[in-house]
Amino acid sequence: MKLTDELRKAWRVRVDYTNMTDKYIAKGISQKTLDAHKKLAKSAHAFVAENRGKDELFMGWTELPYNQDAIVADILATAKLVRRKFENFVVLGIGGSALGPIMAFNALCHLHYNDLPKSKRKGPKFFVEDNVDPVRMKELLDVIDIKKTCFNVISKSGATSETMAQYLIIADLLKKAGVSIRENVIFTTDAKKGNLVKISKSLGGVKSYILPDGVGGRFSELSPVGLLPAAVLGIDIKAMLKGAAYMDKLCKTADLKKNPALLCATLQYISMNDGKNIGVMMPYSDNLKFLSDWYAQLWAESLGKNETLDGKPCNVGQTPVKALGVTDQHSQVQLYTEGPYDKVITFLAVDSYREKTPIPHGCADIPDVSFLGGHTMEELIRAENKATAHALTMAGRLNYTIHVPEVNAFTLGELLFLFELQTAYAGAMFNINTFNQPGVEAGKKATFALLGKPGYADQKAELDAAAPDENYIV
Ligand code: PA5
Repeated sequence: MKLTDELRKAWRVRVDYTNMTDKYIAKGISQKTLDAHKKLAKSAHAFVAENRGKDELFMGWTELPYNQDAIVADILATAKLVRRKFENFVVLGIGGSALGPIMAFNALCHLHYNDLPKSKRKGPKFFVEDNVDPVRMKELLDVIDIKKTCFNVISKSGATSETMAQYLIIADLLKKAGVSIRENVIFTTDAKKGNLVKISKSLGGVKSYILPDGVGGRFSELSPVGLLPAAVLGIDIKAMLKGAAYMDKLCKTADLKKNPALLCATLQYISMNDGKNIGVMMPYSDNLKFLSDWYAQLWAESLGKNETLDGKPCNVGQTPVKALGVTDQHSQVQLYTEGPYDKVITFLAVDSYREKTPIPHGCADIPDVSFLGGHTMEELIRAENKATAHALTMAGRLNYTIHVPEVNAFTLGELLFLFELQTAYAGAMFNINTFNQPGVEAGKKATFALLGKPGYADQKAELDAAAPDENYIV
């Protein structure tokens, strides 16, 4: 489909922050408070604008919508071959190397994709192994024929225990089955650093895609990390990148009233400083369910920091909570409405679902049921979204709604870039390093020590000394 300006406008994602303001919520944000944050927002915007594309600051992700023409062409060619040759496509990766592919798969493919007959799928069956649960690994192997499976090992470092353990298992099985690793494996990794480069060389050159230097895991969905799996699934990756570029364009201005990412970052920043330590992401769409998981990592790992850029101690961040509309109305919304005033709820509202699903008339003698007949499930879910936002507003709870005209590759690209920019702006407002993750690295190193990786003897001794105290075990 040709992407006209008209279509771009029709698919524009919009933020409605009515229910964040003191006009509608007793303890909402006043215009005076917003105005008082304009200067900070402007400097956060300038920080991101000035440092765009800088690898040394891990801001290479800002350029991904623009600098990948050759890579996209290569990915599309590879995806075509994979679709022709393989019955299954398995991503081996974790964190930033897995959450994006899971999100795009769930958003843009049939919700029961793997159960569809081959003729109704655009690509092979799709799996993402983002854990080292031994049962899960074993049971994946029960449902795939490894000879007919393409494994995409995604790891920037090539040193992540989870991913590399999975790789060792698969490499061993392929070897035992007499299959060359080069035939069935694709790497996505850092160009120079990292073990996958060494492994590739030792195997005589495994097909590899590069995760650019300045792109960290959680900002990598628009790089080959996300683009290859998406292309294999038949997703329009060019439209995804165009959606991201469109959002980028909308965010060129430092005007809070016009830049949706800067507005969201400022609203969240003000709220966090006012004790709103929990950020609920609640899409009213099963397709967007895993966007909450992807966002949770982006927001938590980027903002959860204990030191400012000038070395001052701080403990900032907001705990992301994942909820699904309407499902969690029957689980968590009671807490959101009447519990502590410690949350900001972000609704993702879909204006037009890809299916409407009419509700037939019936049960004419039971008005409690019959009123539903003649409506559609789309009307019902949208009504419930509106009703929940209204109920929360009446209860004085901060909430805002991001309207997604429809879930497609373009709007998903917009959403990804909106949240990535929002995170970068919020980090700049807190004056922290948004792009590192020392807390994650600490856990990785402790695992190395426990499993006897050379060079971690001191940490091993420390961990052994920290054995559970029998006095505190019941
Ligand atoms: O966002 C991040 O940097 C992390 O979540 C990483 O993506 C994750 O730890 C996996 O790392 P790697 O890609 O090096 O295997």
